[in-house]
Amino acid sequence: MKYLLLATLLVLYLAALAETSVVDRKLRVQQFEKDSDVTEDYELKRKVGLLFLRKILGQGDILRPEKEKELDRLVEQSGMTCTLCKAGVDVIQKLLHSNGGEDVITAIAVEVCELGNIEDRRVCKLAVEEFKQEVFYVLFNLQPDELCYWLLKNQCRKPADFLPNWVVTSSTTPQPPYKPRTNPASGTPTLKFLFFTDMHMDVRYAPGRTAKCREPLCCRDNDALPDQESDAAGMWGDYRHCDMPQNTVESMMSQVANNDGIDFIIFTGDIPAHNVWNQTKEDQIDKLQRWTDLLKKHFPTTPVYAAVGNHESAPVNSYPPHSIFDQPGADTQWLLDTLYDSWSNWIPEEDMGFVKQGAFYTTLIRPGLRVVSLNTNYCSDDSWWLLVGTNAVDPEGQLKWFAGVMQAAEDNDENVLIISHRPTDGCMKPWSDNYYEIINRYQNTIIAQLFGHAHTGQLYNDITQEDRVSAIGLIGPGFTTYSNLNSGYRIYTMEGEYEGSRYSLLDGESYYLNITDANMRGEATWQREYSFVDDYDVINLTPPELKKLVDRFDSDEQLFQSYHNHITKMEDLSDCDVTCKQSTLCDIKTFRADDNSFC
Ligand SMILES: *[C@@H]1O[C@H](CO)[C@@H](O)[C@H](O)[C@H]1NC(C)=O
Ligand SMILES: *[C@@H]1O[C@H](CO)[C@@H](O)[C@H](O)[C@H]1NC(C)=O
Ligand SMILES: *[C@@H]1O[C@H](CO)[C@@H](O)[C@H](O)[C@H]1NC(C)=O
Ligand SMILES: [Zn+2]
Repeated sequence: MKYLLLATLLVLYLAALAETSVVDRKLRVQQFEKDSDVTEDYELKRKVGLLFLRKILGQGDILRPEKEKELDRLVEQSGMTCTLCKAGVDVIQKLLHSNGGEDVITAIAVEVCELGNIEDRRVCKLAVEEFKQEVFYVLFNLQPDELCYWLLKNQCRKPADFLPNWVVTSSTTPQPPYKPRTNPASGTPTLKFLFFTDMHMDVRYAPGRTAKCREPLCCRDNDALPDQESDAAGMWGDYRHCDMPQNTVESMMSQVANNDGIDFIIFTGDIPAHNVWNQTKEDQIDKLQRWTDLLKKHFPTTPVYAAVGNHESAPVNSYPPHSIFDQPGADTQWLLDTLYDSWSNWIPEEDMGFVKQGAFYTTLIRPGLRVVSLNTNYCSDDSWWLLVGTNAVDPEGQLKWFAGVMQAAEDNDENVLIISHRPTDGCMKPWSDNYYEIINRYQNTIIAQLFGHAHTGQLYNDITQEDRVSAIGLIGPGFTTYSNLNSGYRIYTMEGEYEGSRYSLLDGESYYLNITDANMRGEATWQREYSFVDDYDVINLTPPELKKLVDRFDSDEQLFQSYHNHITKMEDLSDCDVTCKQSTLCDIKTFRADDNSFC
């Protein structure tokens, strides 16, 4: 996602070359090679560029399917092999190391992007500037065989020292016997909280502008007026490549504030819109501030516990560890400091020690009820900073800290609600494996893990010890409609404060905004979508109940189809066929990175 635009530039670059006359192209290339003292195979550079492109876009959440297909076709045609790739990377690295190489690469990328008379012409310069530091960092610091393994996974052997395995020292206290969570007696106190995530509010959202623009994000004030009415961005949002207008955000907040009597709020990240080619640190600071202000306006006395998303940084996904903050473009202390300022509205200062270090924290919010907010951006190779050396080895010591927090919680008979942005199957394997060990070890202590990032609403769990689910994960529902989704949020009920409470989740009730309907009627009416207890016939949201539920998906077709509708917040009501069902169930059960055992 972060490199999408640079990648787009490369595509456009290729397209531009195809359109330029052969003579023009030769002249251009000769000039390029003269400037850079590099005379190696030009075709090869293009092919390697294409590989970068596919890798980059493969991670993207703003790549449209038609572009992805086109890209795969181009890669297939290029006949790339591991050997060719290494030769190509070598050539590019020589260019990078030559005098002024960075500038040459940058200038050419911008020039070629503009030359093609491309839709995103106005975007070219910004996009190249936005992402170049991370690209240069991996090009400077990885060997060709490492880069090519990363680019071509299945075709190249993994270099021995690349992304080494690592283990977080775990507790020496033996795991206590399994202690299932039971339903509390009726009449015991409860707590209610709002869960929302992936707000992706676009302050430049403009109803009436076209929702069919050629940039990755549409419905914005710079977009053209549409040719036909049906292409116009709606007042409350749009199913196409658009993020959320502020009025929809505020409508949700006032709905909840007026009706639900909530005790606290959980938000699992991603505040800004998807205009990732044009986000400065000032933009991101401004968006975080707006989010904070909106919450304080609508919920002046309700505490908010947040996790940091991959979109909070500038550029998107840029989460380098402190050890490389001296690298150009790597210093993200401004983000950690801004998160600290925002979160300190709701969290005691003494619990915020690690926010300035890595945007993670833990805080006790009721006697025996603890929230742990993790920064799972440190688990992902979408942050290219982590690909070098041992940068990916437990960045900022977060997992070691997490294991310690969990042991202390167990010692104190506390219950822990884990919140984080990214579901862990998208993590790098060592991070995911270590995390998984911790989750299994402390299964008695964990209430649930709440994630975002996917924009949909999904269950997430894994069979572990003795054929039981050790801890549940719940993804979303995301707030943004991006793409082809309705907008949604959830109200959870949990066991409240009383002697011996385990604060188990009792139910989750989802609400959605039917975007078609809201736009048609010019008014937003949030509707109840479903609740686990009422509509899925479970007793509560504990691991054994959710395991039974997922088992029933196999045989109860109607139940499964209704789960499928809920994934898109009632946007996609089509029948989920056998293949669709298989992949949906596989998504539910896959919790660990590189685990295909359920698919
Ligand atoms: C690098 O190039 C610049 C101008 O392009 C020149 O002024 C400088 O002397 C060169 N440096 C080296 C080490 O060649
Ligand atoms: C980039 O963002 C700035 C500030 O929001 C805006 O003025 C400018 O038009 C944007 N440019 C592009 C190409 O999106
Ligand atoms: C959403 O609203 C449209 C227009 O009123 C309606 O046709 C559609 O059935 C609604 N969807 C759901 C899930 O109710
Ligand atoms: Zn995300």
